Amino acid sequence: MLSNQDSAGKRTSLHGHWSSRMAFILAVTGSAVGLGNIWKFPYIAGQNGGGAFVLVYLICVIVIGMPVMMSEILIGRRGRRNPIATMELLGKEEGSSGNWRWVGGMGVLAGILILSYYSVIAGWTLGYVVKSASGVFVGATAEAVSAEFSGFVGDWRVIGFCHTLFMSLAIFVVARGVERGLEQAVRFMVPALLILMLVLLGYSINSGSFGEGVAFMFTPDWSKLTWGSVLAALGQAFFTLSIGMGAIMAYGAYLPEETSITGASAAVVTADTSIAILAGLAIFPLVFANGLDPADGPGLVFQTLPLAFGQMAGGVFFSTIFFVLLSFAAWTSAIGLMEPAVAWVVEHYNKSRSAATVLIGGLIWVIGLASVLSFNVLAETKFLAGTLFDNVDYLTSNIMLPLGGLLITIFAGWVMCRNSTADELGSSGSLYKAWRLLARFIAPIGILFVLINAVT
Ligand code: PHE
Repeated sequence: MLSNQDSAGKRTSLHGHWSSRMAFILAVTGSAVGLGNIWKFPYIAGQNGGGAFVLVYLICVIVIGMPVMMSEILIGRRGRRNPIATMELLGKEEGSSGNWRWVGGMGVLAGILILSYYSVIAGWTLGYVVKSASGVFVGATAEAVSAEFSGFVGDWRVIGFCHTLFMSLAIFVVARGVERGLEQAVRFMVPALLILMLVLLGYSINSGSFGEGVAFMFTPDWSKLTWGSVLAALGQAFFTLSIGMGAIMAYGAYLPEETSITGASAAVVTADTSIAILAGLAIFPLVFANGLDPADGPGLVFQTLPLAFGQMAGGVFFSTIFFVLLSFAAWTSAIGLMEPAVAWVVEHYNKSRSAATVLIGGLIWVIGLASVLSFNVLAETKFLAGTLFDNVDYLTSNIMLPLGGLLITIFAGWVMCRNSTADELGSSGSLYKAWRLLARFIAPIGILFVLINAVT
């Protein structure tokens, strides 16, 4: 095992550190804000009936997401290694067991599986950059935009190529390492994305069925809420915040001592949730104004937004920029998905960062082919949750992430002693007490309750 202590005997990370507190917040926000907010949130909310789902999702974000995120950062910063080694080290240090490494292991695996399909959808956004720039959406009808989408995903060679391109981009940034790669990529993307979402919102207020969209999103119809959709809301909270799989833990390992974990988490959760809500507010009014089906599934964003852009003055420009930004958002999330696996291979097998990245990236690319084929050749091959894509998504978001989050809060709340966590969170005041109450009781019990009810 490589040594990771500085001359004063303090634990440091092998992979360098964030240059500032802002750099960390930007990187975590970059990981959190992605396809989960703009692609997944609206289509899952649509499939689960809107209002009640959105409310449950918001509750999950606050009472479960927030404490899990804080736990992950504090564990990561204390261990300063990849999630597997960190969980093993702290497990022993806190007088429990090295077997906690399996929680890190499940996270590494979840990251690999998520990125395998995430890369496919991110590939679609790359494809839509080209489509937008070519002007095919100018003045197009809802039918034409939907036909364009079906034709696109129906050709495995095209979306296979896009998947390959996206994975190459992800491998490129991750191979360059923490400071040079990750940090620069996020600096301008989140603010720019926010601005474009506001432009879209403006359009949808003027031209969509705004009232109907808002009512769909915020008027809870409790009769539509099943345990399955509560689990989907919980899974979405984990997915969109990048928690439950060690990504945030890996980022926490590069966090300087003095940064406030509570402040950073609150900033990230607020930014991430706002972007998801904005995306919903931009999309649902268009869905209703154009007679589309909110429960249409993974194609929803690709069938609504181009339609809006097609009607807008300067639409070619805005549409192209939008899909460029969405690709960037996906790119900075892909980095977080790969980081735990790459950091582990570097540390455990003593490989160079580039070799480790190519190895892990190659593996993810191969697994991703299953999702590429799920939209065409294997579209009719369905079992359990649906296509291969649906199953990988369900297994990771609805099972692996919540389970990971459950074990992480149990670890931070029960295995780690009060002194260790108070030391990292930097206080023993009421904020600390609130975190401890959430991490020890509310979050784990809540997760367990939802998992048990939804799966049985
Ligand atoms: N949070 C990202 C998104 O919303 C996805 C992600 C999940 C990234 C887990 C890293 C880890 O798109």
